[in-house]
Amino acid sequence: MILIKNKMAFTKMETAGQLLASIFEDIKIVITPGISTYEIDSWFAQQLKSKGLTSEMKGYAGYKYVTCVSLNDEVVHGVPSKHKVLQSKDLVKIDVCASWKGYCADMARCFFVDEPTSAQAEKLVMIAQASLDKGIAQAVPGNRLGDISAAIQKEVENNGFGVVRDFAGHGIGKSMHEEPELLNYGFAGQGPVLREGMAIALEPMITVGSYEVYVTEDEWTVKTEDKSLAAHVEDTVFITAQGPKILTRLESKGR
Ligand code: MF3
Ligand code: CO
Repeated sequence: MILIKNKMAFTKMETAGQLLASIFEDIKIVITPGISTYEIDSWFAQQLKSKGLTSEMKGYAGYKYVTCVSLNDEVVHGVPSKHKVLQSKDLVKIDVCASWKGYCADMARCFFVDEPTSAQAEKLVMIAQASLDKGIAQAVPGNRLGDISAAIQKEVENNGFGVVRDFAGHGIGKSMHEEPELLNYGFAGQGPVLREGMAIALEPMITVGSYEVYVTEDEWTVKTEDKSLAAHVEDTVFITAQGPKILTRLESKGR
Protein backbone atom coordinates (compact mmCIF):
# COMPACT_ATOMS: atom_id res chain seq x y z
CA MET A 1 0.00 0.00 0.00
CA ILE A 2 1.07 3.50 -0.71
CA LEU A 3 1.93 5.72 2.21
CA ILE A 4 1.53 9.23 0.95
CA LYS A 5 3.76 11.44 3.01
CA ASN A 6 4.57 13.90 0.36
CA LYS A 7 2.28 16.81 -0.29
CA MET A 8 2.76 16.70 -4.07
CA ALA A 9 1.57 13.12 -4.30
CA PHE A 10 -1.39 13.86 -2.07
CA THR A 11 -2.38 16.86 -4.17
CA LYS A 12 -2.31 14.75 -7.34
CA MET A 13 -4.52 12.12 -5.81
CA GLU A 14 -6.87 14.75 -4.48
CA THR A 15 -7.05 16.33 -7.92
CA ALA A 16 -7.87 12.94 -9.47
CA GLY A 17 -10.66 12.52 -6.93
CA GLN A 18 -12.13 15.99 -7.33
CA LEU A 19 -12.07 15.85 -11.13
CA LEU A 20 -13.70 12.43 -11.13
CA ALA A 21 -16.38 13.60 -8.67
CA SER A 22 -17.06 16.63 -10.86
CA ILE A 23 -17.87 14.32 -13.79
CA PHE A 24 -20.39 12.42 -11.67
CA GLU A 25 -22.09 15.76 -10.93
CA ASP A 26 -23.15 16.02 -14.58
CA ILE A 27 -24.19 12.41 -14.99
CA LYS A 28 -27.96 12.95 -14.72
CA ILE A 29 -28.08 13.88 -18.40
CA VAL A 30 -26.98 10.40 -19.45
CA ILE A 31 -29.03 8.38 -16.95
CA THR A 32 -32.07 8.35 -19.17
CA PRO A 33 -34.37 5.68 -20.68
CA GLY A 34 -33.23 4.42 -24.08
CA ILE A 35 -29.49 5.09 -23.65
CA SER A 36 -27.19 2.06 -23.82
CA THR A 37 -24.52 1.37 -21.23
CA TYR A 38 -22.05 1.56 -24.12
CA GLU A 39 -23.12 5.17 -24.74
CA ILE A 40 -22.71 5.94 -21.04
CA ASP A 41 -19.17 4.57 -21.26
CA SER A 42 -18.45 6.73 -24.34
CA TRP A 43 -19.72 9.79 -22.48
CA PHE A 44 -17.37 9.03 -19.60
CA ALA A 45 -14.44 8.47 -21.95
CA GLN A 46 -15.05 11.93 -23.39
CA GLN A 47 -15.39 13.51 -19.93
CA LEU A 48 -12.20 11.89 -18.63
CA LYS A 49 -10.34 13.18 -21.64
CA SER A 50 -11.63 16.71 -21.26
CA LYS A 51 -10.58 16.80 -17.59
CA GLY A 52 -7.11 15.41 -18.31
CA LEU A 53 -7.79 12.12 -16.52
CA THR A 54 -6.46 8.75 -17.67
CA SER A 55 -8.65 5.66 -17.39
CA GLU A 56 -7.20 3.01 -15.09
CA MET A 57 -9.79 0.45 -16.19
CA LYS A 58 -9.19 0.41 -19.93
CA GLY A 59 -6.39 -2.07 -20.51
CA TYR A 60 -6.62 -3.51 -17.00
CA ALA A 61 -6.53 -7.32 -17.42
CA GLY A 62 -7.74 -6.81 -20.98
CA TYR A 63 -10.78 -4.72 -19.98
CA LYS A 64 -11.89 -2.53 -22.89
CA TYR A 65 -13.94 0.22 -21.25
CA VAL A 66 -13.43 3.21 -18.95
CA THR A 67 -16.44 2.35 -16.77
CA CYS A 68 -18.24 -0.59 -15.29
CA VAL A 69 -21.98 -0.08 -15.65
CA SER A 70 -24.03 -2.62 -13.69
CA LEU A 71 -27.82 -2.84 -13.94
CA ASN A 72 -30.29 -4.15 -11.34
CA ASP A 73 -29.13 -7.67 -10.34
CA GLU A 74 -25.70 -7.00 -11.82
CA VAL A 75 -23.54 -6.17 -8.78
CA VAL A 76 -20.25 -4.87 -10.18
CA HIS A 77 -18.00 -5.04 -13.27
CA GLY A 78 -20.92 -4.69 -15.68
CA VAL A 79 -19.41 -4.57 -19.17
CA PRO A 80 -20.83 -1.67 -21.21
CA SER A 81 -22.85 -2.92 -24.18
CA LYS A 82 -24.93 -1.53 -27.03
CA HIS A 83 -27.44 -4.24 -26.16
CA LYS A 84 -27.93 -3.11 -22.58
CA VAL A 85 -30.38 -0.24 -22.80
CA LEU A 86 -31.63 1.66 -19.76
CA GLN A 87 -35.29 1.36 -18.90
CA SER A 88 -37.35 3.45 -16.55
CA LYS A 89 -36.83 2.40 -12.89
CA ASP A 90 -33.60 0.52 -13.55
CA LEU A 91 -31.00 0.66 -10.78
CA VAL A 92 -27.72 1.65 -12.41
CA LYS A 93 -24.31 1.39 -10.74
CA ILE A 94 -21.45 3.25 -12.36
CA ASP A 95 -17.86 2.60 -11.30
CA VAL A 96 -14.91 4.57 -12.66
CA CYS A 97 -11.23 4.56 -11.77
CA ALA A 98 -8.97 7.20 -13.32
CA SER A 99 -5.63 8.82 -12.60
CA TRP A 100 -4.24 12.33 -12.75
CA LYS A 101 -0.48 12.59 -13.23
CA GLY A 102 -0.11 8.97 -12.18
CA TYR A 103 -2.30 8.97 -9.06
CA CYS A 104 -5.63 7.15 -8.97
CA ALA A 105 -9.10 7.80 -7.70
CA ASP A 106 -11.79 5.13 -7.71
CA MET A 107 -15.47 5.98 -7.35
CA ALA A 108 -18.89 4.38 -7.81
CA ARG A 109 -22.44 5.63 -7.39
CA CYS A 110 -26.00 4.29 -7.76
CA PHE A 111 -28.71 5.94 -9.82
CA PHE A 112 -32.32 5.18 -10.66
CA VAL A 113 -33.60 5.82 -14.15
CA ASP A 114 -36.51 8.27 -13.61
CA GLU A 115 -37.50 6.87 -10.21
CA PRO A 116 -36.86 3.89 -7.90
CA THR A 117 -38.45 0.51 -8.68
CA SER A 118 -39.71 0.21 -5.11
CA ALA A 119 -39.32 1.57 -1.61
CA GLN A 120 -37.06 -1.42 -0.92
CA ALA A 121 -34.79 -0.54 -3.85
CA GLU A 122 -34.54 3.01 -2.56
CA LYS A 123 -33.69 1.73 0.92
CA LEU A 124 -31.04 -0.58 -0.53
CA VAL A 125 -29.23 2.35 -2.12
CA MET A 126 -29.59 4.44 1.05
CA ILE A 127 -28.08 1.69 3.16
CA ALA A 128 -25.23 1.11 0.71
CA GLN A 129 -24.37 4.80 1.04
CA ALA A 130 -24.84 4.73 4.83
CA SER A 131 -22.58 1.67 5.17
CA LEU A 132 -19.92 3.43 3.12
CA ASP A 133 -20.16 6.45 5.42
CA LYS A 134 -19.97 4.24 8.53
CA GLY A 135 -16.89 2.53 7.11
CA ILE A 136 -15.26 5.84 6.25
CA ALA A 137 -15.85 7.13 9.79
CA GLN A 138 -13.59 4.30 11.02
CA ALA A 139 -10.75 5.30 8.68
CA VAL A 140 -8.71 7.10 11.32
CA PRO A 141 -5.12 6.56 12.46
CA GLY A 142 -4.84 3.96 15.21
CA ASN A 143 -7.95 2.03 14.19
CA ARG A 144 -7.60 -1.32 12.46
CA LEU A 145 -8.72 -2.35 9.00
CA GLY A 146 -11.27 -4.71 10.57
CA ASP A 147 -12.98 -1.74 12.24
CA ILE A 148 -13.94 -0.49 8.77
CA SER A 149 -15.08 -3.94 7.59
CA ALA A 150 -17.16 -4.55 10.71
CA ALA A 151 -18.83 -1.11 10.54
CA ILE A 152 -19.89 -1.71 6.94
CA GLN A 153 -21.22 -5.20 7.65
CA LYS A 154 -23.14 -4.08 10.73
CA GLU A 155 -24.94 -1.27 8.92
CA VAL A 156 -25.90 -3.55 6.03
CA GLU A 157 -27.01 -6.58 8.04
CA ASN A 158 -28.85 -4.52 10.69
CA ASN A 159 -31.01 -3.34 7.83
CA GLY A 160 -31.70 -6.84 6.55
CA PHE A 161 -29.49 -6.77 3.46
CA GLY A 162 -26.64 -9.04 2.37
CA VAL A 163 -22.93 -8.19 2.10
CA VAL A 164 -21.22 -9.62 -0.99
CA ARG A 165 -18.18 -11.67 0.08
CA ASP A 166 -16.47 -12.36 -3.23
CA PHE A 167 -15.26 -8.81 -3.96
CA ALA A 168 -13.66 -6.20 -1.75
CA GLY A 169 -12.29 -2.71 -1.40
CA HIS A 170 -8.55 -2.07 -1.63
CA GLY A 171 -5.59 0.14 -1.06
CA ILE A 172 -5.07 2.65 -3.87
CA GLY A 173 -2.33 5.00 -5.02
CA LYS A 174 -0.20 4.83 -8.13
CA SER A 175 -2.16 1.71 -9.03
CA MET A 176 -5.90 1.15 -8.88
CA HIS A 177 -5.50 -1.93 -6.72
CA GLU A 178 -2.92 -1.92 -3.95
CA GLU A 179 -2.59 -3.69 -0.64
CA PRO A 180 -4.42 -4.29 1.56
CA GLU A 181 -7.64 -5.98 0.50
CA LEU A 182 -10.50 -4.39 2.41
CA LEU A 183 -13.33 -6.84 3.08
CA ASN A 184 -16.84 -5.54 3.59
CA TYR A 185 -17.35 -7.92 6.50
CA GLY A 186 -15.18 -8.88 9.43
CA PHE A 187 -14.29 -8.19 13.00
CA ALA A 188 -13.49 -4.92 14.74
CA GLY A 189 -10.04 -4.83 16.30
CA GLN A 190 -8.53 -7.17 13.69
CA GLY A 191 -6.14 -6.58 10.81
CA PRO A 192 -3.41 -4.01 10.17
CA VAL A 193 -3.35 -0.74 12.07
CA LEU A 194 -4.40 2.27 9.99
CA ARG A 195 -1.86 5.04 9.70
CA GLU A 196 -1.77 8.61 8.56
CA GLY A 197 -0.95 8.77 4.85
CA MET A 198 -2.74 5.58 3.80
CA ALA A 199 -5.14 5.75 0.87
CA ILE A 200 -7.96 3.24 0.55
CA ALA A 201 -10.96 2.64 -1.69
CA LEU A 202 -14.01 1.50 0.26
CA GLU A 203 -16.71 -0.18 -1.80
CA PRO A 204 -19.59 -1.99 -0.15
CA MET A 205 -21.55 -4.27 -2.50
CA ILE A 206 -24.90 -5.19 -0.99
CA THR A 207 -27.95 -7.22 -2.00
CA VAL A 208 -31.65 -7.44 -1.21
CA GLY A 209 -31.44 -11.23 -0.99
CA SER A 210 -28.60 -13.72 -0.67
CA TYR A 211 -25.06 -12.39 -0.97
CA GLU A 212 -24.07 -15.18 -3.37
CA VAL A 213 -22.85 -13.90 -6.74
CA TYR A 214 -21.40 -15.34 -9.95
CA VAL A 215 -19.41 -14.07 -12.92
CA THR A 216 -21.41 -14.22 -16.16
CA GLU A 217 -20.27 -15.54 -19.55
CA ASP A 218 -18.69 -12.19 -20.58
CA GLU A 219 -16.12 -13.06 -17.86
CA TRP A 220 -16.58 -9.73 -16.06
CA THR A 221 -20.16 -8.89 -15.16
CA VAL A 222 -21.01 -10.08 -11.64
CA LYS A 223 -24.64 -10.93 -10.86
CA THR A 224 -26.55 -12.07 -7.79
CA GLU A 225 -27.33 -15.80 -7.81
CA ASP A 226 -30.94 -15.22 -6.74
CA LYS A 227 -31.48 -12.33 -9.20
CA SER A 228 -32.10 -9.91 -6.33
CA LEU A 229 -31.22 -6.24 -6.68
CA ALA A 230 -27.73 -5.11 -5.76
CA ALA A 231 -26.18 -1.75 -4.87
CA HIS A 232 -22.55 -0.64 -4.96
CA VAL A 233 -20.95 2.65 -3.97
CA GLU A 234 -17.29 3.54 -3.68
CA ASP A 235 -15.12 6.37 -2.44
CA THR A 236 -11.37 6.93 -2.31
CA VAL A 237 -10.33 8.04 1.15
CA PHE A 238 -7.12 9.41 2.57
CA ILE A 239 -6.35 8.80 6.24
CA THR A 240 -5.13 11.95 7.99
CA ALA A 241 -4.41 12.98 11.56
CA GLN A 242 -7.59 15.05 11.35
CA GLY A 243 -9.62 12.03 10.25
CA PRO A 244 -10.76 10.59 6.92
CA LYS A 245 -10.55 12.85 3.88
CA ILE A 246 -12.89 11.71 1.11
CA LEU A 247 -11.14 12.55 -2.15
CA THR A 248 -14.06 11.57 -4.39
CA ARG A 249 -16.63 13.92 -2.91
CA LEU A 250 -16.63 17.52 -3.99
CA GLU A 251 -14.95 19.73 -1.45
CA SER A 252 -17.67 22.30 -1.97
CA LYS A 253 -20.59 19.89 -1.58
CA GLY A 254 -19.55 17.07 0.71
CA ARG A 255 -20.96 14.42 -1.62
N1 MF3 B 1 -12.96 0.10 -10.01
C1 MF3 B 1 -13.31 -1.22 -9.71
C2 MF3 B 1 -12.71 -1.63 -8.41
O1 MF3 B 1 -12.92 -0.93 -7.52
C3 MF3 B 1 -13.36 -2.17 -10.83
C4 MF3 B 1 -12.11 -2.61 -11.43
S1 MF3 B 1 -12.30 -3.82 -12.60
C5 MF3 B 1 -11.97 -3.16 -14.12
O2 MF3 B 1 -12.06 -2.57 -8.16
F1 MF3 B 1 -11.30 -3.95 -14.78
F2 MF3 B 1 -13.06 -2.90 -14.69
F3 MF3 B 1 -11.28 -2.09 -14.01
CO1 CO C 1 -12.32 -0.08 -6.32
